[in-house]
Amino acid sequence: MLPHDDIDHGTPKRASDQQVTLEIDGQSVTVPQGTSLMRAASEAGIPVPKLCATDSLEPFGSCRLCLVEIEGRRGFPASCTTPAEAGMKVRTQSDKLAKLRHDVMELYISDHPLDCLTCAANGDCELQDMAGAVGLRSVRYGLEGKNHLQAQKDESNPYFSYDPSKCIVCNRCVRACEETQGTFALTISGRGFDSRVSPGQDQAFMDSECVSCGACVQACPTGTLQDKSVVALGMPTKSVVTTCAYCGVGCGFKAEVKGEQVVRMTPWKDGQANDGHSCVKGRFAWGYATHKDRITKPMIRAKITDPWQEVSWDEAIAHAAGEFKRIQAAHGRDAVGGITSSRCTNEETYLVQKLIRAAFGNNNVDTCARVCHSPTGYGLGQTFGTSAGTQTFRSVEKSDVIMVIGANPTDAHPVFASRMKKRIREGAKLIVVDPRRTDLVSSPHIKADYHLQLRPGTNVALVTALAHVIVTEGLLDERFIAERCEDRSFQQWREFVARADNSPEAMEAVTGVPARELRGAARLYATGGNAAIYYGLGVTEHAQGSTMVMGIANLAMATGNVGREGVGVNPLRGQNNVQGSCDMGSFPHELPGYRHVSDSTVRAEFEAAWGVALSAEPGLRIPNMFEAALEGDFRGLYVQGEDIVQSDPDTQHVTEALSRLECLVVQDIFLNETAKYAHVFLPGSSFLEKDGTFTNAERRISRVRKVMKPLGGLADWEVTIKLANALGYPMDYAHPAQIMDEIAALTPSFQGVSYAKLDRLGSVQWPCNEDTGEAGTPTMHVDGFVRGRGRFVITQYVPTPEKVTRRFPLVLTTGRILSQYNVGAQTRRTPNNRWHDEDRLEIHPHDAEERGIAEGDWVGIASRAGETVLRARLSERMAPGVVYTTFHFPESGANVITTDSSDWATNCPEYKVTAVQVCKVTQPSEWQRGYTAFNQQQLDMLERRREGAAAGVVGK
Ligand code: SF4
Ligand code: SF4
Ligand code: SF4
Ligand code: FES
Repeated sequence: MLPHDDIDHGTPKRASDQQVTLEIDGQSVTVPQGTSLMRAASEAGIPVPKLCATDSLEPFGSCRLCLVEIEGRRGFPASCTTPAEAGMKVRTQSDKLAKLRHDVMELYISDHPLDCLTCAANGDCELQDMAGAVGLRSVRYGLEGKNHLQAQKDESNPYFSYDPSKCIVCNRCVRACEETQGTFALTISGRGFDSRVSPGQDQAFMDSECVSCGACVQACPTGTLQDKSVVALGMPTKSVVTTCAYCGVGCGFKAEVKGEQVVRMTPWKDGQANDGHSCVKGRFAWGYATHKDRITKPMIRAKITDPWQEVSWDEAIAHAAGEFKRIQAAHGRDAVGGITSSRCTNEETYLVQKLIRAAFGNNNVDTCARVCHSPTGYGLGQTFGTSAGTQTFRSVEKSDVIMVIGANPTDAHPVFASRMKKRIREGAKLIVVDPRRTDLVSSPHIKADYHLQLRPGTNVALVTALAHVIVTEGLLDERFIAERCEDRSFQQWREFVARADNSPEAMEAVTGVPARELRGAARLYATGGNAAIYYGLGVTEHAQGSTMVMGIANLAMATGNVGREGVGVNPLRGQNNVQGSCDMGSFPHELPGYRHVSDSTVRAEFEAAWGVALSAEPGLRIPNMFEAALEGDFRGLYVQGEDIVQSDPDTQHVTEALSRLECLVVQDIFLNETAKYAHVFLPGSSFLEKDGTFTNAERRISRVRKVMKPLGGLADWEVTIKLANALGYPMDYAHPAQIMDEIAALTPSFQGVSYAKLDRLGSVQWPCNEDTGEAGTPTMHVDGFVRGRGRFVITQYVPTPEKVTRRFPLVLTTGRILSQYNVGAQTRRTPNNRWHDEDRLEIHPHDAEERGIAEGDWVGIASRAGETVLRARLSERMAPGVVYTTFHFPESGANVITTDSSDWATNCPEYKVTAVQVCKVTQPSEWQRGYTAFNQQQLDMLERRREGAAAGVVGK
């Protein structure tokens, strides 16, 4: 049973230490103080008719349908806006109330099209329900008078339509956009009879500020705002609770289906990461799952210049296993390896690393976290003792100061951003540390108190200068430090940061941040109450990414901002299951639960459970695999759900390395860029096609539930099992629940996790074991750090080797955009392209003018690694000297120009700093011309497979 409650109680739940007891329709009811009469009644099983109220929004009191009688009071107060008081005697039903409600409904219906039978919302319309509830059978006023029935529909948004003729001006959509989403895109324009919902200044939805989160559609009680998928497919007939497969927020959704056809994804009200909210990706961009480009039959070929040959699963698996065995026999055990996917489930990731360690017999396993948050794992492990964020998302509701470093949550973690913005609107202070003026710096009702617009690559100088202010101005939390942290490392750190050369004044020349601003921000962080740090890839993807993570941890310890709600250090993780893929042992030096492969006790446990001897030597990281491939030592690779050609830096280096492999096996839902270099293609399954779990950025483990059969016939975990068996290492699981049981048995922090518990509680947060509460650990390091005492680490700033020179005078930094996701393989196959159909180079007008570049011009971007061409967008979001692009389209070649500069501790690439030159051009770069030709050749190879061309027998 899932703990979900689909009843709309009309107004939000209130938390209070005080309870009040009252009588409603003769029934005694006790509720927390502040609860509305409507909610009190509803929780007692007494529904009061309503239209403008819904329990995700504050009450508004406009429709007058929810009137009640209160003994001893005159009139008929609205139950949604009247708080329950002790001793009240309330009546929700009387003849008088019935008459009043009937009359209200009659007025609504008189200005409403009577097309219920053909309306897409038929059966899912609160107006219809309320007409029934008040017993309305006929309308006295007729439909001939003044009405809105001819109002024009707005179909501009690809996912939902707006039909003003059905609007009852209840304001729910406007409030949802303000309170839930925080975009303020909607208003009620006009007055009285003419009042209507209006996006922006009477614009179409697509021309307004609307970010298509869907909150208004969900809040609308009528068919006015309606999902187009429901119009096209009809009302869903059942729903399955699952977890979004896009970003690390991990929103819970109800996949609403008709048979096996998804009709709508409705954010799950009881989803603990999202509380019923969503963004455009999770809510609407799920059509890729059944896109015509899906490859559903296994394919093999001898050379990448050959056409693909469709084969049976057994043939493909036997061929892949045979190749891996042949390579190992000829070139040694370590000549093969694999890459796990941060998009796949925990169970699938666990199986892939198990296959590599147990069936390949080496530790050559790595994951895409290598290129995003590996410095988080290292940095937080060194300082706190565990490799994950310290808080729940809800914790931000208790923050007084929020520092966002190198993260753009409104684009990359939108549902968390809405929660954060709500807290800021309530009064929390905001410090943004970013080379770009992101939306958080200034947007409706949000203004950062400080925007430290540093030069890319100078994070460590900045964090050390912040620490300098805290130490030298006496802002340390001495008690916290004495009780919770190592004295020796603290004393060394204190001495280091206090040095004059670490002062904001000394660092100003390096960071470009005025010392006065930096001092103000440091004081605010240290003295403003509960202070929380949220950071993203703008921290980790640097040559000193790990140092910066440790610098952040130092700040939090120095000010006592760890170990309770409202504070902490929180990496905003990119992909849906990047936390999980790291937890599951995807790194070459760690078994599941972050335990080093050289630890013989841990190894012995796995050896006993898996029935094989395990290597004690850490395996190859992704960049080392490429090096070894180029040197001829590494010849076979199994890649599950990861597109390393598009996502890893220095594309030409990556493709050269992959071209040397004798056997590249790619398992994916589309022929991605990496698969174009593959010899075996195994069809992957989308999150809708399988059972499993994802772990979000809060360490929250949530269920993924199957809503349709895998299009290729097998879920990803089943494919890995087949491959392991063909390699001669037996794996036998009937369901992912059994895989989770094995994970729980072998991983102390997962010991208390089971599917039965997840079904009961909805989700749990690791660590979850006998030492924690049943639902795990919402806040980490409450009574002490996981490593014992917190460790301060000296953060000496070392300028990046990626130097700006006369030849490469600008710094390129990269990032994401709301509508697209990562390499874009999913979102590019949805109408999200309407918002972003190409990557552009954002350049400051000053830099553009110097180069004679105008908006929309084609510009060449050259770095030490390569050259590509994009169209220019003039923008003052970056300071002069800094240019910016997204990397969602393969033909953009953003990673052709990123270099092999990487984090000293983890090899995480320095995506955020590339020295470049930009100039106006007239044609694509040489790489792009080569890409276009190669891509076409590969699509032809795929097309010829479709034509069933006899490609001949693939050589063994
Ligand atoms: S879709 Fe979201 S952003 Fe757009 S108007 Fe509705 S609530 Fe506002
Ligand atoms: S569009 Fe829907 S939610 Fe908005 S005011 Fe009209 S009926 Fe209410
Ligand atoms: S915020 Fe992230 S998890 Fe939530 S709906 Fe959007 S993409 Fe999905
Ligand atoms: S529901 Fe209370 S006034 Fe509308």
